[in-house]
Amino acid sequence: GPIPVILSGGAGTRLWPLSRELMPKQLLKLTGERTLLQETALRLGAPPVVVCNFEHRFIVAEQLREEGIEPRAVVIEPVGRNTAPAAAVAALMLAESDPDALMLLMPSDHLIADTGAFRRAVDIAVPLARQGCMVTFGITPTGPNTGYGYIKRGAALDGGFMVERFVEKPDLATAESYVASGKYTWNSGIFLLPVGLFLAELDRFAPGIKTGSAEALAKGQRDLFFFRLDETTFAAIEGRSIDYAVMEPSDKVAVVPVDMGWSDIGSWSALWQESPRNADGNVILGDVLAVDSTDCYLRSQDHLVATVGVSNLVVIATDDAVLVADKSRDQEVKAVVEALKREG
Ligand code: GDD
Ligand code: MG
Repeated sequence: GPIPVILSGGAGTRLWPLSRELMPKQLLKLTGERTLLQETALRLGAPPVVVCNFEHRFIVAEQLREEGIEPRAVVIEPVGRNTAPAAAVAALMLAESDPDALMLLMPSDHLIADTGAFRRAVDIAVPLARQGCMVTFGITPTGPNTGYGYIKRGAALDGGFMVERFVEKPDLATAESYVASGKYTWNSGIFLLPVGLFLAELDRFAPGIKTGSAEALAKGQRDLFFFRLDETTFAAIEGRSIDYAVMEPSDKVAVVPVDMGWSDIGSWSALWQESPRNADGNVILGDVLAVDSTDCYLRSQDHLVATVGVSNLVVIATDDAVLVADKSRDQEVKAVVEALKREG
């Protein structure tokens, strides 16, 4: 069956101050008993390859161990170069032992409520991948979100469609027209990739990423299941996402539509949406007292937080930072992180 490859390199800056460089959101228990990485690693039921940053290697290994998961490998990036190089390295590594391998590339920043539906969609995608397609998984859009890739359905296939067009992160007007047309789905960010085809397409559209990744792998070092990519060569690779580098230009892309309770939990309001709320519409975690307050996300790590007479606020108190934000403007939390970075 397909080999899961998990991308665990993102920063999750919109979930500051909980999500930090040293503890990004995929390594946090945001909604339940398990971290997003653990949920993702268990999703397909096969030992995964995880691609992560150097700083996170031990936390990643420990979180897998907690779930009794023996990874095929933990590939360590000296610096993040976005998803195309991470996927390239994994594909090259898997192709060495089996040139016909199928890899299921999975982001680690989502919730998927219906694992059964997810696995059925993968089963439907396998024959399409064997026929020479890179298979995406399409989610019915609920609005003109500009943070996603949009996939236009083309000719029908067994259980899916050829992709007529893949557009990564369109502007708002374009996204609105796509949603109104009824012909587009969101890209879930999960891809079933025949490793040989993916590497061939990478060669066509982003040859530098392919050669750079191959060199970083060849000069890398194995230590048990850790594989450390060569720093100088990997750092020199151009940072691009797989969506822009390969999925947009390729004509060998298929889509399998799937309804699996997919949700991106990229921001506090999305997390509010996905979490159990009390009768006042508040999500309350930790030591929080909410008086006459409604529709808030209130989370405290080790201080008492009290609110009076407020609505639609996000309040996050950690041991060294407090965020108070209007829930409708939570996308802008990113700006705080950027400002903090500039100040050093
Ligand atoms: N290893 C590694 N290295 N992982 C990375 C890196 C990196 O440099 N950069 C990002 N990732 C991981 C993130 O942690 C996340 O799990 C996944 O790769 C996707 O990266 P994002 O940065 O979150 O992508 P996006 O959300 O902007 O867009 C993608 O996902 C959308 C769905 O949520 C695209 O595939 C869109 O088309 C898609 O709609
Ligand atoms: Mg994302």
